[in-house]
Amino acid sequence: MNNKIINFVKKKNKSKIISLTAYSKNIASIIDKHCDLILVGDSLGSVLYNFSSTKKVTLEMMIEHSKSVRMGVIKSLMVVDMPYNTYRNTKEALKNAKKIISRTKCDAVKIEGGKKVYQIVKTLIKNKIPVMGHLGILPQSATNFKFKGKNTTERNNILRDSKLLEEAGVFSIVLECIESSLAKKITKTVSIPTIGIGASSHCDGQVLVTDDLIGLNKISARFVKKYSNIGKKINDAVLKFKQDVTKVKFPSKKHSY
Ligand code: KIV
Repeated sequence: MNNKIINFVKKKNKSKIISLTAYSKNIASIIDKHCDLILVGDSLGSVLYNFSSTKKVTLEMMIEHSKSVRMGVIKSLMVVDMPYNTYRNTKEALKNAKKIISRTKCDAVKIEGGKKVYQIVKTLIKNKIPVMGHLGILPQSATNFKFKGKNTTERNNILRDSKLLEEAGVFSIVLECIESSLAKKITKTVSIPTIGIGASSHCDGQVLVTDDLIGLNKISARFVKKYSNIGKKINDAVLKFKQDVTKVKFPSKKHSY
């Protein structure tokens, strides 16, 4: 584990962990100052490319966006999602995780699942590739997007998976759309930080998709809080530009050679 990851893990029970997604350099460089962790999430498939699911996101897409994000991240831990069908077995996972790390210079990869990915997680960690886990709703395999932890079997499985992931060596786990008391139980049970998205304030930290938080992505999920309406700000700026060009106010002498 590198020092950044060790310091990240130490935040558990000390201070809340701040995480956000980034898909490009410009956003990454703005949020880096305020974040502990920046995730290049495969949510970019729906947010940027209008895909109906993250299944269509490719390794090349993740690598290219991550290379851009890398240029904007100085202090935060940078984690890259391994996309769908890139970690179906240990051999495939290792080859692709190595490719992500070497081409993007990120600090860690994130993979979805519990028991099913146990051996894969162990293999990556044995090969010195830090891994972040992801439980609850798993967008790469989900058939519906209803929150998890409604019945005892589901709760027991998720709790079991969190312990398995910890044992396999992940340094942190994203909990996506998990019932509050289960998120609390997991957070108390494991010694590594839990990062919630729709999983209550009991988690050690929170993550949101930045485009949702700034109001650039049209989404109305319960777990999203819009902190800004950047879409309107862009609209206003573009409108002013249009008016200036139309009235021959732009470019002025100051902006000409
Ligand atoms: O892909 C993503 O952005 C994610 C977060 C929502 C946790 O996995």
